[in-house]
Amino acid sequence: MEAVTPAIRIEGLSLTFTQDGRRTEVLRGLDLTVARGEFVAIVGASGVGKSTLLRVLMDLAKPTTGTVELSPDPDAERPLALVFQDARLLPWRRVLSNVMFGLEKSSLPKAERERRAMQALGLVGLSELAQRWPHQLSGGQRQRVALARALAVRPAILLMDEPFSALDIATRENLQDELIRIRRETHKTIIFVTHDIDEATYLADRIVALGGKPGEVRSVRTIDLPHPRRRGALALQEISMAVKADITADAPARDDWVI
Ligand SMILES: Nc1ncnc2c1ncn2[C@@H]1O[C@H](COP(=O)(O)OP(=O)(O)O)[C@@H](O)[C@H]1O
Ligand SMILES: [Mg+2]
Repeated sequence: MEAVTPAIRIEGLSLTFTQDGRRTEVLRGLDLTVARGEFVAIVGASGVGKSTLLRVLMDLAKPTTGTVELSPDPDAERPLALVFQDARLLPWRRVLSNVMFGLEKSSLPKAERERRAMQALGLVGLSELAQRWPHQLSGGQRQRVALARALAVRPAILLMDEPFSALDIATRENLQDELIRIRRETHKTIIFVTHDIDEATYLADRIVALGGKPGEVRSVRTIDLPHPRRRGALALQEISMAVKADITADAPARDDWVI
């Protein structure tokens, strides 16, 4: 069998926040390896530590123990880029200028930055709206701009933190399908956080279920079904139900999470 190149390797990751002298253990003992080109969804209830995990990967929070190892990717220019639930566009900049924002610190000439931003907008299907202002966009279009901004910096890994959760169902499903297409076209490694298990089942190659306090990996399930997947297909429903059970299964009694 051909060896799979890992894009990221997380080992023994734990994180404890200290606030007002109280220590809260948020994540405990996480191990996870994501292969290059893989689409991994991370699911779990609100507060389980999903966003904290992404912050650790982005180097915005320091783990208390454990390591995060990123493999250098010769085809990428940044290790990571993050897309949030809200698009976080700058209202005083046009769409194109928002997408160029992440490239401003690079030494690329302006024409090249613009070319890359237009290319990223093309990828998310928004070429025609490059000169619009953010307030002239729908919620779904704003998220597409945020995705283009993340892709424009050419990250090895795309992190997404509940990126479609604030959208109406039709828009959300449409963007899910767009993400599958973009993934097929770019071969990006994607780590996608969601509390919506059906969304994870529809999109991902593997689902990592977090549960408990502190958050621990409850299960890792592979979804060996080709795309396009049919929404509501029995096979997907069965996986969703199994993941739900993994998350809600009684964990060993623990009263030490506030130390
Ligand atoms: N900077 C912080 N200081 C203290 N506690 C925090 C901080 N950030 C997050 N937390 C706590 O960590 C836990 C996990 O939060 P979060 O990662 O946002 O969960 P999720 O994204 O799964 O909803 C929550 O209990 C939250 O209150
Ligand atoms: Mg969160």
